[in-house]
Amino acid sequence: MKELIDKLYLNKELKSEEFKALIQGRTPELAEYLFEKSRQVRMTHYGNDIYMRGLIEFTNYCKNDCYYCGIRKSNSKVQRYRLSEDDILICCQTGYDLGFRTFVLQGGEDSYFSDEKLVHIITSIKKQHSDCAITLSIGERSHESYLAFFNAGAERYLLRHETANAQHYKMLHPPNLTLASRKACLFDLKQIGFQVGAGFMVGSPFQTVDNLVEDLLFIKELQPHMVGIGPFIPHHQTPFAKEAKGSLELTLFMLGLIRLLSPEVLLPSTTALGTIDPLGRELGILAGGNVVMPNLSPVSVRNKYMLYDNKICTGDEAAECRFCMQKRMESIGYQVVVSRGDCISLQ
Ligand code: 5AD
Ligand code: FES
Repeated sequence: MKELIDKLYLNKELKSEEFKALIQGRTPELAEYLFEKSRQVRMTHYGNDIYMRGLIEFTNYCKNDCYYCGIRKSNSKVQRYRLSEDDILICCQTGYDLGFRTFVLQGGEDSYFSDEKLVHIITSIKKQHSDCAITLSIGERSHESYLAFFNAGAERYLLRHETANAQHYKMLHPPNLTLASRKACLFDLKQIGFQVGAGFMVGSPFQTVDNLVEDLLFIKELQPHMVGIGPFIPHHQTPFAKEAKGSLELTLFMLGLIRLLSPEVLLPSTTALGTIDPLGRELGILAGGNVVMPNLSPVSVRNKYMLYDNKICTGDEAAECRFCMQKRMESIGYQVVVSRGDCISLQ
């Protein structure tokens, strides 16, 4: 097994049977061996620096009905909100003063935010903070929309593929959503020139080890600049309310594998990881992660953006989260840096 990890470290790829053997045969000892390597690779490219992204959850309206997601349109218990452009600009200013140089605008698929409105928002943020990067995370849109956002100054786009297996994708989403369309968006975004982030949930309902292998192979194929992964966590008002959550241990193992597979990738240690374990985010960094995404959303809306149950940081002001994160990273020997934190392969 260790030889397979050495092989992945050297060749940056494995055959699917080899990935499967590694995931199935993993032990705590093997995981530790993997993390030594993944930390070493991360250290080579990014040192001890941890990049921060300020997450602004600007709308929880969503036209989609993904079975796993707490803000799915069928969840009538959600109090829906939208931030105004002014609200968003205030979040950015607060974030800027706290040292954030990347803002992630995340929301449900909300057609209220037309291309025109979003272009205006992107342009205004760029006007005030020309040294900052803007990441969008607003789901599937047309080529024209993506192009308009890119031309307005957004340079990154997060769109998790959720699972690279078409049948599994169908079990997680209603029939109008397809893996083919998700993949087409990702390749389109890349072709336009965005730094693109894909990703998936670990331990989502019906997921098999083969599916996880397919996720890794898809990452190899897409070559994204970022990969967002976190454990699936049930939300009590969704069809998956009674499903088991994903495990910390498997999520960390997948993070380690992804670091070896894509040495230069930006790899967040996610809020979901911090939700299933009090030290989840620290452990994610120690498994090879190099990005954290503290929340910059106004406290008044935080508990309305509940993708899953028990989400952390919902009561904390931006500044609290920012300094909490700094302390957490310092406690394990890393430092959060004031930087746009571009992917090293682009610098
Ligand atoms: N558990 C964990 N992650 C979730 N996401 C959505 N719902 C859940 C959940 N119940 C993730 C999806 C989505 C991202 C914004 O949040 O992967 O792409
Ligand atoms: Fe948000 Fe610790 S990171 S409170």
